[in-house]
Amino acid sequence: MDDLREGFPTNFSQIKEMTMLYSCAMREICTKLENLSQEFELNKSRNPIQHITHRLKKTDSIRNKMIQKNLPLEYETMRDEITDIGGIRVICSYINDIYDIVKMLKQQDDLLIVREKDYIANPKPNGYRSYHLIVAIPIFLSSEKQIIPVEIQMRTIAMDFWASLEHQLRYKTAAKVSDSTRTRLTNIAESIFHADLEMQQIYEEIKDIY
Ligand code: GTP
Ligand code: MG
Repeated sequence: MDDLREGFPTNFSQIKEMTMLYSCAMREICTKLENLSQEFELNKSRNPIQHITHRLKKTDSIRNKMIQKNLPLEYETMRDEITDIGGIRVICSYINDIYDIVKMLKQQDDLLIVREKDYIANPKPNGYRSYHLIVAIPIFLSSEKQIIPVEIQMRTIAMDFWASLEHQLRYKTAAKVSDSTRTRLTNIAESIFHADLEMQQIYEEIKDIY
């Protein structure tokens, strides 16, 4: 068993194929997002997307996640069960921009919505807010079509500020964070959400004079 764990995924050509497929899928979705952003800008004279980043999950992290989830270390299982191998993060200006983009993505009939979690309306207990979508997109190869899942995380600049620092703190100090520190972090997340709502309101009030 250990040997299998050490070596997964064992086949180098499988890793190369996987990298190719998920890179194609992320590129397709990034293009969709950029197109939507460009059209939005044309109609509303501002850009709802501040920036987009993407990452391919490292094979070590994939392996660890599969072990954590008690999954057999097989290529097929990885393909079917690990839905965040390709990950895209979309940082938006205002909360409503996120909901607008989600709505626009859902209208695209080549995209299948696999899973949706609205952590903006329903934040995690620690205060984490973001909108998560797992979508599946067809990738057309020379002689076949493959459906590839990609995780899209959407959040405002303010939510991203919190999530990035909280992630760093948790990663670096996992065992040492006291309850009171956790509470402070949760309170900051709450203040940030109120700031986001205020900014949204200010924008709604002045957008007609833009
Ligand atoms: P995973 O198996 O980790 O993907 O969990 P899940 O399927 O329940 O997904 P979930 O929607 O909870 O979270 C997926 C991703 O969201 C994580 O890999 C992080 O990037 C991000 N995330 C979720 N919760 C937190 C949090 O509390 N803090 C931060 N900084 N990021 C979070
Ligand atoms: Mg994940």
